[in-house]
Amino acid sequence: MPNTRIRSSAGTYEIRCQRMALIGAARQIARACDSNEVFILSSPRVWRHWGKSVVRAIRPAHGNRVILFDDAEARKDMSNVEAICRALHRAGADRHSVLVAVGGGVVGDVAGFVASSYLRGVSLVHIPSTVVAQVDSSIGGKTGVNLPEGKNLVGAFYPPKLVITDPILLATLPHREFRSGLYEVIKSGVIADARLFAYLEQNMRAVLRRDAAALAWIIPRCIQIKARVVTADERERGLRKILNFGHTLGHALEAVTGYRRFLHGEAIGWGMIAAARIAVASGRLSQSQATRIIRLIMEVGPLPALGRVRAGQLRKIMLGDKKSRAGRIRWVLPIRIGKAQWDVEVPWATVTRVIRRLPQVAKEARA
Ligand SMILES: NC(=O)c1ccc[n+]([C@@H]2O[C@H](COP(=O)([O-])OP(=O)(O)OC[C@H]3O[C@@H](n4cnc5c(N)ncnc54)[C@H](O)[C@@H]3O)[C@@H](O)[C@H]2O)c1
Ligand SMILES: [Zn+2]
Repeated sequence: MPNTRIRSSAGTYEIRCQRMALIGAARQIARACDSNEVFILSSPRVWRHWGKSVVRAIRPAHGNRVILFDDAEARKDMSNVEAICRALHRAGADRHSVLVAVGGGVVGDVAGFVASSYLRGVSLVHIPSTVVAQVDSSIGGKTGVNLPEGKNLVGAFYPPKLVITDPILLATLPHREFRSGLYEVIKSGVIADARLFAYLEQNMRAVLRRDAAALAWIIPRCIQIKARVVTADERERGLRKILNFGHTLGHALEAVTGYRRFLHGEAIGWGMIAAARIAVASGRLSQSQATRIIRLIMEVGPLPALGRVRAGQLRKIMLGDKKSRAGRIRWVLPIRIGKAQWDVEVPWATVTRVIRRLPQVAKEARA
């Protein structure tokens, strides 16, 4: 699989994706960053599984300079950023230092924000260890942390110098986390790649077993989709918005349930089902294509029940989302598998009808 290059306002960087990509990491980091002054940022859980392999691959020049922090979503905050910056200072990190983030999206987002601001910016390398991080969060330069007022409210665009993506790291991921990441993979198929979608339809069982060949097929494909989108529209003025397919309602579901009931991907699973139904109800998508989308989502496994979530509550949250403008909710809707439109406005009555019927839709797809 060829490496993927991404052009960003801060320069070009490469995503090296293959099994055993970790081997040779030391040399690649030194070349991409012009320095071998490496500091590793990771979480205790990720480090327990992968610390030894990473250290063997990176061979930090001055011993083991590893800073571990709690990667719970609730700790993706400014106090963690401050603690990490202070730990870097105590350990002697300077402007030539390279921060290597080893972990999922939380580690990557926090480490990325630290890299963007510590000494006004030091080199950043991602070694993503979850499905979400490998196909999504390590690509495109968005970094940031949460405030008590909401998710990802403070951050910066800060592209890495290099991304080293090794699907082997996914072997230790808890199964629910792994499945949750697959909803984002399905998202890529629906919005941009009918072949990826068809591959998932035919090979979902192998993917769920984490079969090496299946992962080697889908992960680089998702990387290329995201790379294409963020290269064309780094700052989300147009095309990049398609990546929010399923996220309009998904984010609202996460918020209304206090971020406890759903993993992010699971909420996106529901959000994509809703968006497919809204696309049908507004005459944009055929019923048969929507059925294929909903079936594939259900094949990943049962989604946590919606419970007593009311459309009105969701609407309030969607209107407050930083992606809504002037009191209008804008949807990303598929017009066929492999192609989506963004900034679509839909009458609220249509949306309410779809939300009310959601539990039923899921049952029908299973039948
Ligand atoms: N910057 C972006 O463009 C972007 C895009 C998507 C998501 N995100 C952010 O990413 C975060 C979610 O990231 P995530 O889904 O990767 O989850 P995560 O980082 O929360 O990790 C999930 C859990 O898996 C553990 N883990 C990670 N890798 C492991 C491994 N290989 N083996 C065993 N356990 C492992 C972690 O310790 C954690 O407990 C959110 O905060 C979201 O806002 C950012
Ligand atoms: Zn997402």
